[in-house]
Amino acid sequence: MKLRVLGSGAGGGFPQWNCNCPMCDGHRKGIVRASARTQSSITVSGDGENWLLFNASPDVLQQLRSFPALQPARALRDTAIRAIVLIDAQIDHTTGLYMLREHRQPHEIWCTGLVREDLTTGNPLFKVLGHYSGLDWHDIPLGGHGFEIPGIAGLHFTALPLISNAPPYSPHRDNPQPGDNIGVTITDTRSGKKLFYAPGLGRMEDHVWAAMQAADCVLVDGTLWTDDEMIRLGASKKTSRDMGHMPQSGPDGMIEWLDKLPAATRKILIHINNTNPILDEDSPQRAELTAHGIEVSFDGMDLAL
Ligand code: MLT
Ligand code: MN
Ligand code: ZN
Repeated sequence: MKLRVLGSGAGGGFPQWNCNCPMCDGHRKGIVRASARTQSSITVSGDGENWLLFNASPDVLQQLRSFPALQPARALRDTAIRAIVLIDAQIDHTTGLYMLREHRQPHEIWCTGLVREDLTTGNPLFKVLGHYSGLDWHDIPLGGHGFEIPGIAGLHFTALPLISNAPPYSPHRDNPQPGDNIGVTITDTRSGKKLFYAPGLGRMEDHVWAAMQAADCVLVDGTLWTDDEMIRLGASKKTSRDMGHMPQSGPDGMIEWLDKLPAATRKILIHINNTNPILDEDSPQRAELTAHGIEVSFDGMDLAL
């Protein structure tokens, strides 16, 4: 399995256009050692030729330009993206579909029924796309034996429901329903290696923990360092957990959980918010992650499993 992190940032990216928090301001002034990050997306392939896009971020055009494998140039109009998985209906994971409207055939879109509903009603993106390339929707089964995606050879997928949050235009906002947000285990059918991907993970549940324990590599929610990060900055009234993101520090935080995984499990954070001090490579928070064997993903990071 080959995996490229296309966008390691959370909604807004880093630096965020209107933000002057210490990270964004420090980045602009060149006094914080942190690389810019586009919004949350990865791409995976079993054969190195046909790629599955996880999430279509508003930065998708920049992300495609940054990764030539996705533009193999075999015809006048071409792409190596065979299908797209949407792990939730949030803006940062879906609105890039507008930028992919010139596709010569309907996009093969995989998401849950609830995500499809939000993208047909509250934010009728699927309806709008119907006026351009259109899309073929495939329901993602939750749990069970998982599923395979035509065109994506060598990879098997198992999705599980998890507690994060639906977007503000969803009737389930702040009232999580199974299927609003998912985590996905990607298994390479030849090597047997497993990667668990969950850019939004608000609360640990037994079935999520089991999937993380079974994985060789976890690529999980790294949105905020502290639960009250946005409140203390005056940026939001919501805690990290209210937003659907387990913070890294503190009791029951991501560091505590990742510490319980086997030492051999590769532990990587993704969907990093622009306020998060771990963006600063010289920060004590980043040093703490390193001491715990936890990596911070960056745009352009490649994984092979
Ligand atoms: C989230 O992950 O909580 C959302 O994507 C935030 C947003 O982009 O509005
Ligand atoms: Mn997000
Ligand atoms: Zn900021």
